Amino acid sequence: MEANGTKPKAYLCRRFTENVEAAMDDRYDLRRNEHDGILSPDEIVHCAQGSEVLFASATEQINEGVLRRLAPTLRYVATLSVGYDHIDMAAADELGIGVLHTPDVLSDACAEVAMMLMLNACRRGYEADRMVRTNQWPGWAPTQLLGIGLKAKRVLVFGMGRIGREVAARARAFGMEIHYHNRRALAPELAAGALYHADLDDALRIADVLVIAAPGSPELKGVINAERIALMPPRAVLVNISRGDLVDDDALISALSTGRLFAAGLDVYANEPNIDPRYRTLDNVFLSPHMGSATQETRDAMGWLLLNGLDALRQGDMPDNLLNPRSTPPFS
Ligand code: DGY
Repeated sequence: MEANGTKPKAYLCRRFTENVEAAMDDRYDLRRNEHDGILSPDEIVHCAQGSEVLFASATEQINEGVLRRLAPTLRYVATLSVGYDHIDMAAADELGIGVLHTPDVLSDACAEVAMMLMLNACRRGYEADRMVRTNQWPGWAPTQLLGIGLKAKRVLVFGMGRIGREVAARARAFGMEIHYHNRRALAPELAAGALYHADLDDALRIADVLVIAAPGSPELKGVINAERIALMPPRAVLVNISRGDLVDDDALISALSTGRLFAAGLDVYANEPNIDPRYRTLDNVFLSPHMGSATQETRDAMGWLLLNGLDALRQGDMPDNLLNPRSTPPFS
C-alpha cells in the first residue's frame, strides 16, 4: 500500500498459484490474463498499459519494444523463472526498469526433472510405458528393452550453476563420475569433487551423459551442434533442461535416428510449444513439456520470491533476486 492508500497497478501475464495470486491481490491493484494463454508482445503492451509492475514468465517476450511502450510507468518486471533470456536486459537497464527473477528456489525441482529425463532416456522409459499401456508386452524376456545403467558412467554437467550442482549431487548418488564445463572452475567446496574441463570440446569427448544446464543466452545458441555431438562417445545420452535453442535440432535428430546417440531426454525446445515434429516420431527420446520447476511448492516459492523482492524494494532495500540493482530506482 502506498502512503496515499492506493495500491500500485500491476498486470499478471500468466496465472500463478492460488496462494501467490491471493497475496498479489492484497498488495496490488492487479489485472490478470484470465485465460492464461501466451500473450504476444503487442498483447502485453495493450493489456499492461498503466501498470507499474509486470508479472511475467519465460513464455512472454519482453523485448525492447514492450519495455519502451510501457515505460516510464512500468517500473519493474518480475519473471516467474530463473532464466531471463526472454527479457531485453539492455533496454531494461537503459529505461531504469528493475527485473526480478527466481533463482535457487527451483534448483531441486529442476534437478529432479533432469534425473527423470536421464533415467527415462537411459532406461527407455517411453518405450517401456508404451509397451505396457498398449498391451504389447509379451511378458518378461532376457533381452527386452535393454538400456544403459548410470553407475560408473561419466556425466558432463554443462553449466555448473545452482541447478547444475543439484544435478551433480543426484548423479553422484547414482554412482556416476561427475565432470563439468563452465566458463570458470568452481571453488572446491562447490565442485564437491567434480572434475573441471575448461574446454567444451574436450569435455564432450568423455560425456557418456551430457546434461545441459547452462543459462540460455544468444552466445550459446546452437552450441551443441553436429560437430560437437560427433565428439561424444558412441551411444552417449543427451539431456536438456536449459533452453531448447542451445541444441541444433537437425544435428540431434540425425544423431538419434542413426543411433550415434543412444537416447535423449528433453524438457525444453526451440520455438516452444511448436517443437520440431520429428521428435515425436523417435522412440529414443523422452519428452516433457518444460516442467522443470513444476511442483506446487516450487511454484509457490517462486511467486513468493518475486513478491518479497518487490516488498523489499518498496522498503528501500535491494533484494538478491533483482538482476539489475544499479539501474533500478527505488519503488516510490
Ligand atoms: C526457468 O525458470 O527459467 C524455467 O525454464 C521456467 O521458465
